[in-house]
Amino acid sequence: MNLKALHQISYGLYVVAGHKGDRVNAQIANTVFQITSQPPTLAVSINRENYTHEFITAGGSLTVNVLRQDTGMKFIGRFGFKCGRDMDKFEGIRYRLSGLGNPILEENTTAFLEVRVDRTVDVGTHTLFIGEVVDAEIFNDAEVLTYAHYQLVKKGKAPKTAPTYIEE
Ligand SMILES: Cc1cc2nc3c(=O)[nH]c(=O)nc-3n(C[C@H](O)[C@H](O)[C@H](O)COP(=O)(O)O)c2cc1C
Repeated sequence: MNLKALHQISYGLYVVAGHKGDRVNAQIANTVFQITSQPPTLAVSINRENYTHEFITAGGSLTVNVLRQDTGMKFIGRFGFKCGRDMDKFEGIRYRLSGLGNPILEENTTAFLEVRVDRTVDVGTHTLFIGEVVDAEIFNDAEVLTYAHYQLVKKGKAPKTAPTYIEE
């Protein structure tokens, strides 16, 4: 078996955000995908250990913020390699709150979608959050960031908590 075949699956890169009371947190995720069109339904796989997991579970909803291709590595590092338990990830970041109370990033993004979680699937290390898209907006027509561009051009890696992490 050649597990390198997994590298040939394409993804985008997103900031997935949630809220818990009046607190917010977010993380990078590549595992966002549309699973049905009627109703428009998305799924995202989030590691149980991530702080964002706690927030999505508490708030019962999440926003998917679609990253622009020209997003800097510092921004990706903040949301993808640091934990909200150790820092306020939104300090100095431009955002507003959605109707359901989740962060909508106002920088480095082309669009957002909001999902009301109506189903979760326990997949061991991760939880698959599934739900209907209840709000969405396109901000601009900038190129979106793909996982391939992140790896090949930006030379970015995935941390251990990412589903696509591969031991070197
Ligand atoms: C390129 C990339 C892709 C990632 N994809 C996922 C993902 O799909 N699911 C996941 O749970 N974590 C993913 N991660 C890891 C989280 O973003 C990371 O563990 C983050 O620090 C969690 O922050 P938190 O503890 O504040 O929630 C990814 C990270 C990177 C850099």
